[in-house]
Amino acid sequence: MQQAVETTLFEKLGGSAAIEAVVMAFYKRVLGDPDLQGFFAKTDMDKQTRSQIAFLTMALGGPNEYNGRPMKAAHDGMGITEMHFDKVAGHLVDTLKSVGVCDDDVNEVVALIGPLKKQIVSA
Ligand code: HEM
Repeated sequence: MQQAVETTLFEKLGGSAAIEAVVMAFYKRVLGDPDLQGFFAKTDMDKQTRSQIAFLTMALGGPNEYNGRPMKAAHDGMGITEMHFDKVAGHLVDTLKSVGVCDDDVNEVVALIGPLKKQIVSA
């Protein structure tokens, strides 16, 4: 009998080391974007990077060690528009592509992150 082998997106992308590298490169892009950098002016980026690594690890099916706030509470009242969200999501996509993640896997990540828009956009 054949056994079902389920590979999580977390594993497909290369596990912890890959996610860490992606998140670091992602925030470089975000902080380099004049439309986005202001949101993070007072943010401890080391802490933010660790939190995002844990969040994405969980969202992509890896171990759940995320102990930050839920997405709505984390972003409430910041005046984030759909344009801001789409730019952040775009930087994530560009980062994934830049490290050689294939289009199918990038699309899977987009399908997971896209639905967060309604929790994150508040303006
Ligand atoms: C693509 C979807 C997004 C995801 C998955 C995401 C994820 C996160 C996570 C995990 C945190 C940390 C929460 C905590 O530790 O309690 C956070 C905080 C934050 N996010 Fe996002 N985020 C997204 C989109 C955005 C957008 C579009 C903006 C603004 C343009 C933004 C700006 C921020 C800021 C300013 C903080 C708080 C940093 C602080 O506490 O100083 N995020 N986000």
